Amino acid sequence: MTPRFLSTFLLALAASATAKWIVPGARWYDTAGELVNAHAGCVTVDRETGKFFLFGEYKVEGQVEGGGISVYSSQDLATWEREGMALEPVEGHPYISPEHIIQRPKVVYSEGTGKYHMWWHADNSTYGWLLQGFAQADNITGPYSFVDATLPLGNWSQDFGLFTDYKDGKSYALYSNGDRKEARDVYITRYNDDITELDEVVHRFDKYDLEAPTILQTDKSYYALMSHKTGYRPNNVVAFRADSLSGPWSQPFIVSPLNTRTFNSQSGFSLRINGTKQTTYLYLGDQWDSNSLWESRYIWLPIAIDEEKKSLEVVWHDIYDLNMYGNPPPPLMYSRYRYINGNVNSETGDWTPIEGTTYLPTANTTTTHTTGSAYLQEASFASTGKILTSIAGNHSTVTFTNITGTGKSQWISFYYQNTDDMGFGDQPGGTPDRVGGAWQLRRIASVSVNGGEVQSLYQRDTHKGIVLSAPLKVELKEGGGNVVTVGGLWNGFDVKAADLDRLVVYPPEED
Ligand SMILES: *[C@@H]1O[C@H](CO)[C@@H](O)[C@H](O)[C@H]1NC(C)=O
Ligand SMILES: *[C@@H]1O[C@H](CO)[C@@H](O)[C@H](O)[C@H]1NC(C)=O
Ligand SMILES: *[C@@H]1O[C@H](CO)[C@@H](O)[C@H](O)[C@H]1NC(C)=O
Ligand SMILES: *[C@@H]1O[C@H](CO)[C@@H](O)[C@H](O)[C@H]1NC(C)=O
Ligand SMILES: *[C@@H]1O[C@H](CO)[C@@H](O)[C@H](O)[C@H]1NC(C)=O
Ligand SMILES: *[C@@H]1O[C@H](CO)[C@@H](O)[C@H](O)[C@H]1NC(C)=O
Ligand SMILES: *[C@@H]1O[C@H](CO)[C@@H](O)[C@H](O)[C@H]1NC(C)=O
Repeated sequence: MTPRFLSTFLLALAASATAKWIVPGARWYDTAGELVNAHAGCVTVDRETGKFFLFGEYKVEGQVEGGGISVYSSQDLATWEREGMALEPVEGHPYISPEHIIQRPKVVYSEGTGKYHMWWHADNSTYGWLLQGFAQADNITGPYSFVDATLPLGNWSQDFGLFTDYKDGKSYALYSNGDRKEARDVYITRYNDDITELDEVVHRFDKYDLEAPTILQTDKSYYALMSHKTGYRPNNVVAFRADSLSGPWSQPFIVSPLNTRTFNSQSGFSLRINGTKQTTYLYLGDQWDSNSLWESRYIWLPIAIDEEKKSLEVVWHDIYDLNMYGNPPPPLMYSRYRYINGNVNSETGDWTPIEGTTYLPTANTTTTHTTGSAYLQEASFASTGKILTSIAGNHSTVTFTNITGTGKSQWISFYYQNTDDMGFGDQPGGTPDRVGGAWQLRRIASVSVNGGEVQSLYQRDTHKGIVLSAPLKVELKEGGGNVVTVGGLWNGFDVKAADLDRLVVYPPEED
């Protein structure tokens, strides 16, 4: 072993005791305890260290656009350390001032220039320019220097993606070309070898009017995932399949259970996790919070692919472990295309779903009881055939009285139905039910454990009969008899919380 491999090996031993789990939809905190703030971005491998870097849009409270691009590093794709700003907005700059749109950054290493290249959707605040921005840096964390913002082969470009083929190392820009009547296409366009400009359109997804494209590659296939255009509202993401990037491409098909709106998320990036046991494909989606974009969350989920059936499915898991153990093997050990966008190497490449204990509601017994107007209502789609409803304020609550804990921090997934069905303005089928006369992005429940401090649980709208889950980390005392009370938000309007189907309590992470 060379010293470098040896030190990586020792680091792996030291870190292997703390597997870090992926909890989609939770608040993700960095190693300094701040929210991970890198939205609609990508994960790129550092050629020197094999470390993973997450790039994304940086959003601060009250600000809509122009926050620049932040970067975080990780050994395990779950623990993120902030590395500062990769692309800082510049006052008065013609393309990257705080007034400009700097969205969906993608970073790739260029063998030709020996630099990292960042590409993104560059625009003015009214989306009138539709450009692709380009910046370069010697080191992966930057700071990146602005090079140019251009129209791709003279056309327009909106939501931006970047795909690198692991078989030949060639990179491609993916972009929808905007909302003008003559546009509404999605392009796959090949870069030159240096990834400094675009060479040739290899495919155009004609008039599907989709956005947020990402491509993932298996040994046999390419799958292109894209969302419909409903702004910050999630919708049912679709995939197309092909043997070759130039097509012919299949019909689009929906990738997750209907009406979950891809588990309340939008596509944007995907990862291929390559290991000795298997290759895992990961969907890296964004759960936008249009009320406060800076609070937007991440929905990262495993993708199940059946090459025989030519199908692909994004599969929900409350919690799973990517088994990276802080040990990305040094990329130099692997193929000559070792810095490819969207490909990471792990020891085994597999992942493990975490098992929890389910607590079902019952009517006023020793294990569950309700107060005020909260009650169990018939619901054929619910786990018990009944769902807890009319949970509101601090007067109509539901209490689970005998939950077993470990004395350590544990995740609880609250399975809920939120019938608001908030669509998107004038989109077909998108007419929302209004709560108290106004659109609500989500219901908010209040959760208290053993009579302690109240935590807010955001419950995004689902469709009627669709049960999704939202996680909270809580402190349960060791043994049985933990009391978990769920109420609504008391905000003067007395808006109800979502309906509750069941709780799933997970073991602590450190075991
Ligand atoms: C954005 O650019 C378009 C096209 O040049 C222009 O019509 C529009 O006024 C610009 N928006 C702003 C806010 O400057
Ligand atoms: C780039 O990283 C190397 C070590 O990896 C460091 O020596 C150098 O100072 C960095 N350069 C910049 C501009 O940050
Ligand atoms: C851009 O592409 C669309 C079709 O996708 C085409 O109709 C339009 O003319 C092109 N615009 C430019 C400026 O090339
Ligand atoms: C995938 O991992 C194998 C070893 O498990 C390695 O030989 C191969 O080069 C890797 N492929 C990529 C694209 O990283
Ligand atoms: C359940 O019991 C509580 C008192 O413990 C009472 O306030 C509530 O109305 C009861 N709910 C039902 C559905 O009987
Ligand atoms: C419920 O909330 C109201 C309004 O904040 C408050 O006045 C009241 O004391 C609360 N009741 C309980 C039992 O906490
Ligand atoms: C509480 O849970 C424990 C452990 O599952 C069980 O042994 C006990 O019987 C339960 N108590 C009640 C009152 O249901």
